[in-house]
Amino acid sequence: MTDVETDDVAEEPEAPDESEAAEVTEPPDPNAVVINVNGNDVAARKGETVIAAALRNDEYIPHFCYHPRMSPVGMCRQCMVEVEGPRGPMMVVSCMTPVADGQVVRTATDEVKRAQEGMLELLLANHPLDCPVCDKGGECPLQDQAFSHGPGESRYVEQKRHYEKPIPISDLVYLDRERCILCDRCTRFADEVAGDKLIHFISRGNNTQVMTFPDEPFVSYFSGNTVQICPVGALTARPYRFKARPWDLSQRESTCTTCSVGCRTVIQSSRDELLRYQGVDSDPVNWGWLCDRGRFNFEATNSDHRLGAPMIKTEAGLVETTWSGALDTAAGLINQALTDGGPESIALLGGARGSNEDAFAWAQLADAIGIRHRDAQLGDGLPAELLGLERATIDEAANAATIVLLGPDLKEELPVLYLRLRDAAEKGRSRIVEFSATESGLSPYAWKSIRHEPGTQLKAVASALADSEIAEQLASGDVVIVAGRANLADSADVTVAALQALLDEVPGAKVLPALRRGNIVGALSVGLAPADADHDGLATLQAAADGKIELLILLGADPLNDCPDADLARRAVAGARRIVAIDTFPS
Ligand code: SF4
Ligand code: SF4
Ligand code: FES
Repeated sequence: MTDVETDDVAEEPEAPDESEAAEVTEPPDPNAVVINVNGNDVAARKGETVIAAALRNDEYIPHFCYHPRMSPVGMCRQCMVEVEGPRGPMMVVSCMTPVADGQVVRTATDEVKRAQEGMLELLLANHPLDCPVCDKGGECPLQDQAFSHGPGESRYVEQKRHYEKPIPISDLVYLDRERCILCDRCTRFADEVAGDKLIHFISRGNNTQVMTFPDEPFVSYFSGNTVQICPVGALTARPYRFKARPWDLSQRESTCTTCSVGCRTVIQSSRDELLRYQGVDSDPVNWGWLCDRGRFNFEATNSDHRLGAPMIKTEAGLVETTWSGALDTAAGLINQALTDGGPESIALLGGARGSNEDAFAWAQLADAIGIRHRDAQLGDGLPAELLGLERATIDEAANAATIVLLGPDLKEELPVLYLRLRDAAEKGRSRIVEFSATESGLSPYAWKSIRHEPGTQLKAVASALADSEIAEQLASGDVVIVAGRANLADSADVTVAALQALLDEVPGAKVLPALRRGNIVGALSVGLAPADADHDGLATLQAAADGKIELLILLGADPLNDCPDADLARRAVAGARRIVAIDTFPS
């Protein structure tokens, strides 16, 4: 340790005087307001509703039609509260009343309770009260609030309204109109969130009901969300009907692995059987929504075709074996391949349908053996080097001034990302500049939709960049480029060249990869990326087709279905000397 010359010691900065300190304090937030709910001061923001501020601060207000992710409509009138006004207390619906600084709100006075009881009595007047046979029983906001905020008994002795129950409005969703309380959640979701206006209110007065158009079923990629947000048992999903009671369910929060959006879910099971996925409101990702593909694909888990035991190919075909037998055989095959052809003759493809931990473990094994032929993609994605570009989150994309779409039809491939970007465009936060060969799900919401021949993205991007209006828009704020393979028949080079042209022009743009399988980014990042182009997915399949691969290990990958070059995949599978396939179904 050397002595420090006293001259080297920096002078102590003088403590700022109080007036200087005051200058550096944050300016007050102009949107912050304080309201008083039941005697407690509650922080709120200008523009939000009384119910939103109250619920966020644990002041419960009963409600049915209010949903934090949709615009308020004031349909059910259950959220009545008392607000102090210039002429004394007024009864208002809290989901339609904006907060104001100093506002005094009371949620549980005798008058409020009477109003809430009255509303519940009206909502229950025509309700069949068939809770014992209703799938929603036990998790039903109407049932719960009838207990907590209802009158306790009914005075209604007249004949109730009757409808045929239930009627299928799609292959997945059943509607029981007798239970419907006309809250407008499902219809609002279909219109406002999904953009699929396929269910509406029809008729008038006492006969108002939710209905599809004649001969047009509720065929939406997002129909299951209406079942989840329906506050009664009016909408039920076929796969879950009469399967379990909510109190019988065990659940774990998880992530949907069906595509790379990674929606937050809760997985529910009863008696060792998977019964339901529900969306969880994750602010940065899915806002509680799931697509039907992600929501209902749990049925595959219970499929009879699922592999129940490891299998080994013998002369008699595939026969079941024990796990220790399968692991011994796999280890023997690896050793045999090492002896016969060395590590260069072993290949590892896939790994993007599992977790990061799975992929990491396989990458460690590949490192230990010295496997260079490895790739989580099978020629159907983008080069792994693109992951080195500055990546945008879903939230950043949905809040960027400009979203450039240079990839697949998001409604088809990454459905909940489509919902987030559609919302950004519809609410005016973002402008979408879309490059596509055909009309896509987001075309109707795009500010500019630029059509081009397949494979000519670069030319289309170059001419768009020469357009002064588009150039001005790109310079006006944050830009996120959603980049993926628009079409598997195009090579990845086409997307890469167009992306590079955009990044040259807008160097500050961030990139959101639009990749197909659940965890490609994770698998590539933790070690399943190819070392170079001579060892990527397509090169590996070519090596197998050329008879250079002694052992091909497939991690949840099926080249015959996943690789865009089906002929190469067929030749590779035929050319690989031995194959170990790790999968849930026979591939
Ligand atoms: S079906 Fe459910 S979500 Fe739709 S309006 Fe009726 S109660 Fe509301
Ligand atoms: S968008 Fe993707 S991650 Fe989300 S629910 Fe659908 S399949 Fe799953
Ligand atoms: S929740 Fe306010 S009117 Fe329905």
